Amino acid sequence: MYKLIIHGGNALHGTISASGSKNASLPILFASILADGPVTLTNTPHLSDISTSLRLLMDMGAEFILESNNDLFIDSSKLTHLVASYNLVKTMRASILVLGPMLAKYGEAKVSLPGGCAIGTRPVNLHLKALEELGATIEVKNGYIYAHADTLVGTDIHFEQITVTATENVVMAATLAKGITTIHNAAQEPEVSDLCTCLNTMGAKITGIGTSILTIEGVKNLNGTQYSVCPDRIEAGTYLIAAAITGGSITIKNIHHQSMRATLEKLIEIGADIKTENHSITLDMKGRRPKAVNIKTSTYPHFPTDMQAQFTVLNVIADGHSSITETIFENRFMHIPELARMGADLTLEGNTVLCKGVKSLTGAHLMATDLRASASLVLAGLAAKGTTTIERVYHLDRGYETIEEKLKLLGAQIERVQD
Ligand code: EPZ
Repeated sequence: MYKLIIHGGNALHGTISASGSKNASLPILFASILADGPVTLTNTPHLSDISTSLRLLMDMGAEFILESNNDLFIDSSKLTHLVASYNLVKTMRASILVLGPMLAKYGEAKVSLPGGCAIGTRPVNLHLKALEELGATIEVKNGYIYAHADTLVGTDIHFEQITVTATENVVMAATLAKGITTIHNAAQEPEVSDLCTCLNTMGAKITGIGTSILTIEGVKNLNGTQYSVCPDRIEAGTYLIAAAITGGSITIKNIHHQSMRATLEKLIEIGADIKTENHSITLDMKGRRPKAVNIKTSTYPHFPTDMQAQFTVLNVIADGHSSITETIFENRFMHIPELARMGADLTLEGNTVLCKGVKSLTGAHLMATDLRASASLVLAGLAAKGTTTIERVYHLDRGYETIEEKLKLLGAQIERVQD
C-alpha cells in the first residue's frame, strides 16, 4: 500500500486541467452494454474505479482497448457472462449500474448486492423498485440480485427520494423498453445529464435532460458512438479549495463552471476572488484567511455532498464559527476525528458539525477512510504546519487522477511513498 507525505504551509499557485468526471464516466461505461457496436470515449480519467469498471465489463465478455492517445475503445455488444460478481462489486458500489443496461439488452442479470460503505448503508431499494415497475422480476438471495425481464414496458416512475444512480439505472433500462417512460423527481446532477446526452448520441430518445422530469421513448436498438466525458466538477472544486485553504491562487482549465454554481457561490462567500471564462475558473485568495461559511448539502443544483468534507476543512481554519449539515448520507463525517487530531475545533451534533475556526492546524499521522474524506485530509495537510502522513491512499486513487502530480504543479510539497 502507499501513503502520502505532505509538508504543509505553502500557498499554492498555478494552473491545472480538470480531469474527466468519474461519476459521469462510470454510467457511460456501463451504457456501452446497450450498444450494438463499440463505444469510443475520450476524457475518461485514469482512476481505479474506471479500471474496476473495465474489469467488470471484461469479466462479462466485453473487449476494450486503451489507445495510445488515451481514448478508450469498448465493445460490450456481445456479453457472454451476465454476472457482476461480489469480488468486484464490493470494491465499487457503482457496479449496480450494470443492472439496468443488462436487463434492457439481455433480459437478465445477476448482480452482487453492493452493500454499504464508510459513508452509509447505501441501499439499492429504489433501483429495484423502479426496475420492477418497468416489468422486471427481481429476487434477492444469497447476497445477489437476480433480475429477469422478457420485455421492459415504459411507465411513469416516481422516485420518493432523489437518487443519482437509480435515475441512471432506470434511464438506461428505459432506452430499450417498449413505449415511453417518464421519470419524476429524477436526479439533475450534471453527470446524469452527461449520460443522457451520450445515450442520445447512441440513438436513444431522451428529453427533459437537466430537469427533474426525464422522458425516454424506447427504441429498438442503440448504436456505438464516440463521446467525450464531461469534466469532473468535484475534482475541480477540491483543487479550488486547495488554493483557497493555503491563501493562494489557481486557474483550472477544461471545466464547465456552469455546473459548479453552488460551490463557487460559497467560495465567493469565504472571500475568494473568482473569475470564470468559457472553460476555466480562476480563484485568488490574495493571501487572505477564509471567512467561515455555513454549509448544508443537498441535491443538484444545490451544494453537493461530495464537496462537504473539503469545505469542512476550509471552515476549520477560517475566521469565525460555522455549521456544516449533511443531508444526503448518514455517516459522511469520517474526516472529523482525523481533523481533530490536527487541532481542529469541531463538535458533531447529529448530522451537523459545529466548527470554530482555528488559526492553524498541525501536521499528524492520519488514516484515510473514504474518497472525499481522504481528499479533505490532503487539504488539511497542505494547510497545516509541519508534516502530515496519510495512510491508505487507495481511497483517493478512486476519484483523483494523479493527485500528488497536480498538487506538485501548484507548489505543494507532497510525496507518495510505499508503506
Ligand atoms: C452518487 O451516489 C455518486 N456516485 C456519489 O458520489 C454522490 O455522493 C451521490 O450520488 C449523491 O450525489 C456516483 O455517481 C457513482 P444516491 P448514489 O442514490 O447514486 C439513498 C463520490 O464521492 N438511496 O443519489 O449511490 C442513499 O442512501 C460518490 O464520488 C436509497 O435509500 O447516491 C442516499 O442517502 C460518493 N435507496 C440518498 O438516497 C436507493 O435505492 C442519495 O443517494 C438509492 C439511494
